Amino acid sequence: CDPSQVRAKHKEVCLHKDSPLGETILECYNCGCRNVFLLGFISATTESVVVLLCREPCLSVNALKDMNWDLSQWCPLIDDRCFLQWLLKVPSEQEQLRARQISAQQINKIEELWKTNPDATLEDLEKPGVDDEPQPVVPKYEDAYQYQNVFAPLIKLEADYDKMMKESQSKDSITIRWDIGLNKKRIAYFVFPKEDNEIRLVTGDELRLRYSGDAAHPSWQSVGHVIKLTAQEEVALELGASQGVPVDVNHGFSVDFVWKSTSFDRMQGAMKTFAVDETSVSGYIYHHLLGHEVEMQMVRNTLPRRFGAPGLPELNASQVFAVKSVLQKPISLIQGPPGTGKTVTSAAIVYHMAKQGQGQVLVCAPSNVAVDQLAEKISATGLKVVRLCAKSREAVSSPVEHLTLHYQVRHLDTSEKSELHKLQQLKDEQGLLHLYPDYFLLFLFFFIVFD
Ligand SMILES: Nc1ncnc2c1ncn2[C@@H]1O[C@H](COP(=O)(O)OP(=O)(O)OP(=O)(O)O)[C@@H](O)[C@H]1O
Ligand SMILES: [Mg+2]
Repeated sequence: CDPSQVRAKHKEVCLHKDSPLGETILECYNCGCRNVFLLGFISATTESVVVLLCREPCLSVNALKDMNWDLSQWCPLIDDRCFLQWLLKVPSEQEQLRARQISAQQINKIEELWKTNPDATLEDLEKPGVDDEPQPVVPKYEDAYQYQNVFAPLIKLEADYDKMMKESQSKDSITIRWDIGLNKKRIAYFVFPKEDNEIRLVTGDELRLRYSGDAAHPSWQSVGHVIKLTAQEEVALELGASQGVPVDVNHGFSVDFVWKSTSFDRMQGAMKTFAVDETSVSGYIYHHLLGHEVEMQMVRNTLPRRFGAPGLPELNASQVFAVKSVLQKPISLIQGPPGTGKTVTSAAIVYHMAKQGQGQVLVCAPSNVAVDQLAEKISATGLKVVRLCAKSREAVSSPVEHLTLHYQVRHLDTSEKSELHKLQQLKDEQGLLHLYPDYFLLFLFFFIVFD
C-alpha cells in the first residue's frame, strides 16, 4: 500500500489483470463501497470463497446475518501497510531489481503534476522548472532582503496550491431553490456535493453561481457568499446581484469557488515593507525576526498588582507568569496545548495593556473563529471592543455580532443617524460604497468615535 496514494486520496483499487484474482474492482459485497481502507474479508468455512465487506456500516449492522458467514472472522484487506498477498503478489527481488527505481519524492512530484496534467509521465519531471526546489529556511538571516528571498517563493507556492485546490472544486448540475432574505437579497439554496477530504466550505466563503443559458435565458453569473450551512449539507448563498437573476430556473447551475489572494498578498506586502523600509519595525523586532542575537530588552511599565482581569476566570500560576512577562517584553510567544487557557491569558494581557492607557490595542489572529473568541473574552473584561470583519463576512452570523463595526455603526445613536441610514441603504443596495468625499469623511468620523 503506497503511502503516496493515501496522500493523493485514492481509495479505490482495481487489481491488475495478472494478479491472482485477475482484473477485479474491490468492493463491498453488501453496499458496493470501494474504499479499500474500510474493506475486509471473511472466508467461508467450507469452500475457498471469500466475501468482501466494509467495516462501516455493513460489518457492524450485521448485513450478512442470514447467510452462513462468521463475521467475527472479518480481517482488513490491508495489513501492516500492505495488501494481503492473495490479492497482490509482491514481486520477487529479481523482478524488483529490473523495475524502474523511483523515489518517494518523485512519486510525490508526479502526483502534483497529475493534478494539472493527468497524462504526465516520469519524463515530465525532468523538464526545467518542474523540479526547482525552493531555498530552505534557515535559523538566521543576513538581512530582511535575504529573509524575503527565502520566504516569498514559499508563500507563492502555498498560494498557488491553495488556489488550485479551491478552483478544482467547481461543481456542475446544481439544483437551486430560490429565496429572498430579510435584507431583500436573493438567496440560492443548493446542495454542494462534498467529496471526502476536500476543503470544507465555511460561512463567509465566496462562490460564483453560473447558468450557461437556454432559449429563454441569457447566460448569467453572480458571486455570492455563504451565509449558512444546514445540517442537510445545504448551502445558503446570498447573491451580490439582485437583478437579472434567473429565478424561474432551478436546474443546471454550476458553482465555482472564488479564490482570494488577499491574505497571501498581505504576507508578501508585509515582507516587502520589512525588506525595503528599515523603520517598519523596531530595531529589536527586526533583529529578532532575522534570528540575530539581541540583548534582552525590558519594557518599562508599572505592573498591575493583580494579573487577572474582571470577567475572566482566576488565572493559574503559569498564566500569571505569562501575563507578567509579556507585559515587560516587546515581543513574546506563548505556547500551550489546546484548551490550556491561551485565549484567556491573551485577553488578560490586552486588558492590562489597555489599562496602561498608552493607546488602543490592535489584536489579530490567524482565523475568524480565533478573532471572535478573543473579542468575546476581551469584551468580558469590560473593555470596549470593535471587531472588524471582511465585507464578505458581514452577513455571516457570529457570537460577537454586537461587537462588529458594521453592527455598531448600524445601531449608532447619533444625530447623524439619517445620514448614516442613507449610507447604509446605499451600501446594502450596491454592495459597496463608492465613496463620495463627504461620505468618506463621515466614515472616517465613525472610525474615530469608535476608537
Ligand atoms: N485559570 C483558569 N481557571 C479556570 N478556567 C480557565 C482558566 N483559564 C482558562 N479557563 C477555561 O478553560 C477553557 C479553555 O480556555 P482558552 O479558550 O483560553 O484556552 P486556549 O488555550 O485558548 O484553547 P484553544 O487551544 O482551543 O485555543 C475556557 O473555558 C476557559 O474559560
Ligand atoms: Mg484559544
